[in-house]
Amino acid sequence: MALTQAGSSGDHWSSRTAFILAAVGAAVGLGNIWRFPTLAGENGGGAFVLVYIGFVILLGLPLVLSEILLGRAGGTDAIGSVEKVAEQSRRSRNWKGIGALQITAGFLILSFYSVVAGWVINYVLISGQDWLAALFSGAPFAPAFAGENQGTITGRMSELFASPWRLIGLHGIFMVATVWIVASGVHNGIERAAKWLMPAFFILLIIVTVYGAFTGNFAEAVAFMFTPDFSQLNPIALNEALGQALFSLSLAAGGLLTYGAYITRDVNLASTAVMIAMMDTGVAIIAGLMIFPIVFAVGLDPASGPALIFQSLPVAFNSMPAGALVGFVFFILIFFAALTSSISLLEGPTAWVIDRFRIVRPLAAIMVGSVAFLIGVICALGYNVWADVRPLGFWNAFAQNDILDALDGVTGKIMLPLGAFLVSIFIGWMADRRLVQQQTGLSNGMFAVWRFLVAWVCPIAVGLVLLFGLVPGLLGS
Ligand code: PFF
Repeated sequence: MALTQAGSSGDHWSSRTAFILAAVGAAVGLGNIWRFPTLAGENGGGAFVLVYIGFVILLGLPLVLSEILLGRAGGTDAIGSVEKVAEQSRRSRNWKGIGALQITAGFLILSFYSVVAGWVINYVLISGQDWLAALFSGAPFAPAFAGENQGTITGRMSELFASPWRLIGLHGIFMVATVWIVASGVHNGIERAAKWLMPAFFILLIIVTVYGAFTGNFAEAVAFMFTPDFSQLNPIALNEALGQALFSLSLAAGGLLTYGAYITRDVNLASTAVMIAMMDTGVAIIAGLMIFPIVFAVGLDPASGPALIFQSLPVAFNSMPAGALVGFVFFILIFFAALTSSISLLEGPTAWVIDRFRIVRPLAAIMVGSVAFLIGVICALGYNVWADVRPLGFWNAFAQNDILDALDGVTGKIMLPLGAFLVSIFIGWMADRRLVQQQTGLSNGMFAVWRFLVAWVCPIAVGLVLLFGLVPGLLGS
């Protein structure tokens, strides 16, 4: 462990590839594999996918570049970096509030993200057990949960939710793994984890997608995802699509700002940003093409919401060849994706604590991780002991939300759009133009296009979504 390191500012990625792997690792996570197919399923498929891709290109991509350049120009933790660029641009130092907002959002997301990752671990364990049982009885390619009926299989999710100890224990295991990696340093922890987990993730993703294409109903899945039915689009779907684009690209949560600070001067940021956005969106679409053929193969509903991967898929694997093995592989792949994302969520606040309190990295990571763990415990209890609690019951838009959903809603619908809005105003209007252009590495023409998107398109579009999220009832929810 890098015990000698007293500040985050001395750390650097060892290469451009290392940064891309870490940033793609941050971007590709539960958002791609759990949330994206869920939202696409609930919002009618094709039209949602199209709008989502539009948001990624017009808003997400310009913002990814804005955040990594802000991080690299500042070269320290998220708050310090924005403060430094504000100073160099002769603007108020209070702009550093952007960094504070982002770190807080990332910290809160981490606390519930880890709980959901705990569900994934639960399914890694039960599907692993199931496959081992099949293996030892001489049928390694048996379907999943052989001999069980649909009720028993879907009931596993309610069983898990009814057990506070199991939820908290699994959340704890995931948080310890996250803290361990971040505590080991940028180079020996984050970079190394991304270097192993991301290639493994991609291989598993391809295996399960090819499996789905051959054994499932691929044609129906393609039609569902790529035939837009615009009557399905409404303001709520647009709002969801933008929130999802920000979340999926890891924008406005301190992760990219902080990772950006570790990029060396020689790296071209514009092409790197394109790469990150393309890979993230590619994985989200492949995840849809992995999941829906399997869902359609057994005639299940694509709009089953958050239960899609935890209940519908296990049921599907129950009647598919080699379902036990593929189910196990599927949950391992999600686990890898979640882990490389959670480390970026923890790194933001940790880097700040290291710089602000001048303490060593492992201690900072443990402190931040412990508090996030406790908030996650409250979320986990929201499924059983505090099942009736609706923390934002007074607020129309969030009235039905349990504790975890409320935290997800406030961060995703308010804090992320607000953080992205402020970044676009800061980079588009406040920051020194020459400094910004130099960092992007863009030619004059491309720079003008990019700057127009950041200065005009982003604030207006994100501002509208923010308004919809903030004003209760405006979207009819
Ligand atoms: N992008 C991650 C996902 O799609 O699961 C979640 C995330 C990670 C959001 C890191 C924000 C962040 F800073």
